Amino acid sequence: MVTNLKGRDFISVMDFGKEELETILEVAKWLKMRNAIGESQDHILKGKVLGMLFASPSTRTRLSFSTGIFQLGGQAQVYSPEELQLSHKESWKDTAEMISRFLSGFAIRLYNLKTQMGTLEYEYGDARKVLRGIAEYASIPVINMLDDKEHPCQIMGDILTMTEKFGGLEGAKKKKIVMSWAYDERAKSAGVPQTMIAAGGILGLNIVLAYPNEPGLYDVDPEYIEFAKNAAAASGGSLTIENDIWKASKDADVIYAKSWARNPDKHESVRDKYKDDWCISHEHFKTAGKGAVYMHCLPARRKFEVTDLLIDDPKISIVNDEAENRLHVQKAIMSLTMGGRL
Ligand code: CP
Repeated sequence: MVTNLKGRDFISVMDFGKEELETILEVAKWLKMRNAIGESQDHILKGKVLGMLFASPSTRTRLSFSTGIFQLGGQAQVYSPEELQLSHKESWKDTAEMISRFLSGFAIRLYNLKTQMGTLEYEYGDARKVLRGIAEYASIPVINMLDDKEHPCQIMGDILTMTEKFGGLEGAKKKKIVMSWAYDERAKSAGVPQTMIAAGGILGLNIVLAYPNEPGLYDVDPEYIEFAKNAAAASGGSLTIENDIWKASKDADVIYAKSWARNPDKHESVRDKYKDDWCISHEHFKTAGKGAVYMHCLPARRKFEVTDLLIDDPKISIVNDEAENRLHVQKAIMSLTMGGRL
């Protein structure tokens, strides 16, 4: 365990080492246990204020951060870009410097600048540049609530969930974790798979990344593949790529399947040939390992990404445990970065 995360931003899991990510998981478990027995935690961030800027819709992230900061004794402020002077072109730099005078932490969801900020020219990675820019000029911790590269709070909650189901992190390391593409009409961010392979690599998980073989479309950012492979080599984990979901599912302990696409136009023209095989159902679990679980970050597109029967199957689906763990892991991230004594 480390005790020096005070003041750190939480933008990319790749900014953190193994022991630091393990610390977040341990503190999350500690907070969750105390929550379960009704122990008050409102001294931890008493009087602190978390600003939350959402440039796109959210249910889980908004509720879990708002409840989390409240349980820790602080308060949440939630805004959209339209409600701030950002809509009148106040710069990110001026915004970042000013908010540091009022807030104790600033959490941002920003993953598609073109539609969310009315920016005409947009390239993959621009949202991350904005987050890094805000972090450079803000003197308070900046937390990534989903940008165009990663969803780090989601994946830390997901890995916490796996540790609970499989006997701690050491148990989770022995499992075959399939991070899979799933069919949907909408082209969504690849932030979840990219964060999963990076965090899994750091923590020593064995991950199979499964997606249809469509280069430049369903494969993920090569930066994340390279990082994950190097990190796994150092941690004792592994990253394997599989283009056949049926082969990937065999002996799987986790099938975590969600839709993503790196090129919306190309996605529209090719997606339908994958809609049967890549809609996850009980069929995929027939050859999976004993006790295998289905995971999804939610919201899930029922009948497209997953069958109703599977996502509603309480013996296999753990999607609401994942959602709950957003609360506990984000409380850990806030406590460690916005609280602390050092
Ligand atoms: N998983 C997730 O981030 O959910 P929301 O978009 O509802 O916040």
